[in-house]
Amino acid sequence: MDKIRLQGMRPLYGTVAVSGAKNAALPLIAATLLAPGTHILHNVPDLRDTRTMFKLLETLGAVWQRSGTTVQVDTTGLMSSEAPYDLVKTMRASVLVLGPLISRTGRARVSLPGGCAIGARPIDMHLRGFEQLGVQTVLEKGYVEARVESPLTGGSVYFDVPSVTGTENVLMASVQAKGETVIKNAAKEPEIGNLIDMLNGMGAHISGKDTDRLVVTGVESLHAVEATIIPDRIEAGTYLMAVGAAGGEITITNCCPEHLPALVEKLRLVGMDIEAREDSFIASCPVAADGSRCRLKAVNITTMPYPGFPTDLQAQFMALMIQAEGVSIIHETIFENRFMHVAELQRLGAQITIDGSSAVVKGISREQLCGAAVMATDLRASASLVIAGLSASGVTEISRVYHLERGYENLVPKLRAIGAEIEQVAA
Ligand code: UD1
Repeated sequence: MDKIRLQGMRPLYGTVAVSGAKNAALPLIAATLLAPGTHILHNVPDLRDTRTMFKLLETLGAVWQRSGTTVQVDTTGLMSSEAPYDLVKTMRASVLVLGPLISRTGRARVSLPGGCAIGARPIDMHLRGFEQLGVQTVLEKGYVEARVESPLTGGSVYFDVPSVTGTENVLMASVQAKGETVIKNAAKEPEIGNLIDMLNGMGAHISGKDTDRLVVTGVESLHAVEATIIPDRIEAGTYLMAVGAAGGEITITNCCPEHLPALVEKLRLVGMDIEAREDSFIASCPVAADGSRCRLKAVNITTMPYPGFPTDLQAQFMALMIQAEGVSIIHETIFENRFMHVAELQRLGAQITIDGSSAVVKGISREQLCGAAVMATDLRASASLVIAGLSASGVTEISRVYHLERGYENLVPKLRAIGAEIEQVAA
């Protein structure tokens, strides 16, 4: 199994381009199941998770072909409505095929995803939403069996907490339901807006984009479409924090700064200089008159649904705070177990204590942080270990990097191109 080895305290300079968003690509790929024909998706990142989603579509009968970042998906010949356990267990977002399969074929059998490193992550709200549209769901032998006896009918769906994939799944199930569906307390993440644009491009009628109340007027049929995946805001945010940790000045291109309102605000309070342009950032760490780096300031964050601070950037922000001046309180409100990275950051010398759903980070100087062997526990935690390693003295070795490959396209070469001393080595 590969490892990442990196030498810390090397400032970053240059330009790095952001790939398409994993969390937008997955629902958009699933949405191709809704209408027969050849769909064309642009800016599709080549990641372990997108490959898993294409493999899942293949088992359902779709045919796909990649050319650069464009992928053609022909979903004309669907043969199956079953998502097997061995695929769902490697990627819980596989449940995103439930909504489209229900809409297109009136039935779906999808393995129930188990818990994951960051929490239990149930899909009860997805299922309740489907039931409001007239879908019968039963859990049997670890599978969700969804069946529609009479035509799908629009209904009123309320989410107790805004669920990103729940909103996407119910949207996809409802677009061809008879009458009107209203989704209340819907999630507002930009990836959902990307999906709504694609669905409307296929002939759906969805209004309320970017709000927590979505109204879907069912249509008789949909057609194949051409759509573009939005830039990955989590990847862009990770590079912002990488330069915060390592120092230097970088330009981040192919991104959408307006999708990172909370992070940019917080990083400016931390002391970073960030210029947000239409589709790029220029980010740097201030230097004192004598040329030495100014110390970053500790800042508190609380993770919230969009436009709040994203839980997917919490670990990376913590990795930045370990070297800031003062005490930072990091409050995680979305997932119950998202502090697995704390024990690994402590191996570098970070001073962090956990108090329920908060982590209290007492910043120490960069010189006191010392590279070590650490283990990646989940996707975003892995990125936080890279960020911590960039600011520590000496060498950090990160094992279990397959987590990173799930969601970051070419992270190691991209960081190397802007001056990081980083390599992926066979263990
Ligand atoms: C998505 C993202 C993930 C991100 C998360 C929160 C994708 C593929 N993944 O995950 O990267 O970390 O949003 O921004 O887009 N919940 C329930 N019942 C449900 C559904 C959710 O209780 O049926 C709870 C979850 O446990 C969690 C909260 O709702 O506490 C929000 O989770 P949700 O938005 O559904 O996360 P995902 O869509 O799984």
